[in-house]
Amino acid sequence: MAITRLSLTDFRNHSRLEIAARAGFVLLTGPNGAGKTNVLEAISMLSPGRGLRRAPLSAMAREGGPGNFSVFAALDQADLGVGTEPGSPDRKKVRINGAGASASGLSEWLALVWLTPAMDRLFVEGASGRRRFLDRLTYALVPEHAAATTRYERAMRERNRLLNADRPADPSWFDALEAQMVEHGAAIMQARRELVSHLSARLTQEPEGPFARPLLSLDKSSDADPEALAAAMRASRPADRAAGRSLVGPHRTDLTVIHAGKGVAAERSSTGEQKAMLLAIVLAHADAVAEARDMRPILLLDEVAAHLDPARREALYDRLAARGGQTWMTGTEPAPFAAIRETATHIELA
Ligand SMILES: Nc1ncnc2c1ncn2[C@@H]1O[C@H](COP(=O)(O)OP(=O)(O)OP(=O)(O)O)[C@@H](O)[C@H]1O
Ligand SMILES: [Mg+2]
Repeated sequence: MAITRLSLTDFRNHSRLEIAARAGFVLLTGPNGAGKTNVLEAISMLSPGRGLRRAPLSAMAREGGPGNFSVFAALDQADLGVGTEPGSPDRKKVRINGAGASASGLSEWLALVWLTPAMDRLFVEGASGRRRFLDRLTYALVPEHAAATTRYERAMRERNRLLNADRPADPSWFDALEAQMVEHGAAIMQARRELVSHLSARLTQEPEGPFARPLLSLDKSSDADPEALAAAMRASRPADRAAGRSLVGPHRTDLTVIHAGKGVAAERSSTGEQKAMLLAIVLAHADAVAEARDMRPILLLDEVAAHLDPARREALYDRLAARGGQTWMTGTEPAPFAAIRETATHIELA
């Protein structure tokens, strides 16, 4: 899987940018503020969710531009487009092969995973970031996971509205919404378990390499069967009403990561070890997805190369080159990419 052509119109600082790329490495270099991360963010919009900065859509439209933007990518198998329209800057419009489509449909065509400097704190900060990371990895393996997540969240928003209503709502309304949450929630938990088991199988097979090997697990709540989940939601109604939101369900799951070699929790590992574990997860994930779906996720690695020591950098390049696929990487300087520049697509942003 590769993006062969990318065009941005009025996206952040790019009024118009056309990139013709090949499979393999795509290098984006240029000074601070040139718009390298913006290009990766634009690509990240071609997947369900809010993209790699989690910014509102209106912030992506170029300041001083017409107020809307578009991102278009030609892949080997499909043409994908996302953007906003004049007058509705907060609505994500999606086109797949020229026809209007839902955002969750994007994961059927494109599997994307990214690592950004902001994710350096993924293991240390709250569960929501880890859950989003887990879900993104899961979309790539089980594309229907994106639609299940959307439907689950829709039902939960309705339930939260009931919880916050002035007068206690009819229990049958809760029953109906919880039934939807249980249906989609069970699918969500099943897909995440599948992801973790595929990844764990990969990670334990691998020889001890330059990237610290992580052990992954989901918290206990994600083992719940549909009946148990339904009962837990029903039992939680009074507490949920007091809190004003739904307190149980797969929207609360956490991903636990342990440094296998040391038996230490990821959040207590060194900064470098944490980064190495993230890379190990992403690399193992690409292999797992390639095996299961016969397509290799596109990787977006923002400022990763410059932060690795030369030996690990080389190991990363060797591994990515050996397995194929497409990897977009950014850096302020071309030097760390010297070993791969000859074969890479290199875009210098001014
Ligand atoms: N909506 C927008 N319209 C116009 N310009 C924007 C918009 N949003 C952000 N920018 C500009 O984009 C630039 C940042 O781009 P980006 O983060 O992609 O840079 P970068 O090349 O990754 O830099 P660094 O090397 O520092 O990471 C900033 O100068 C910022 O002001
Ligand atoms: Mg950047």
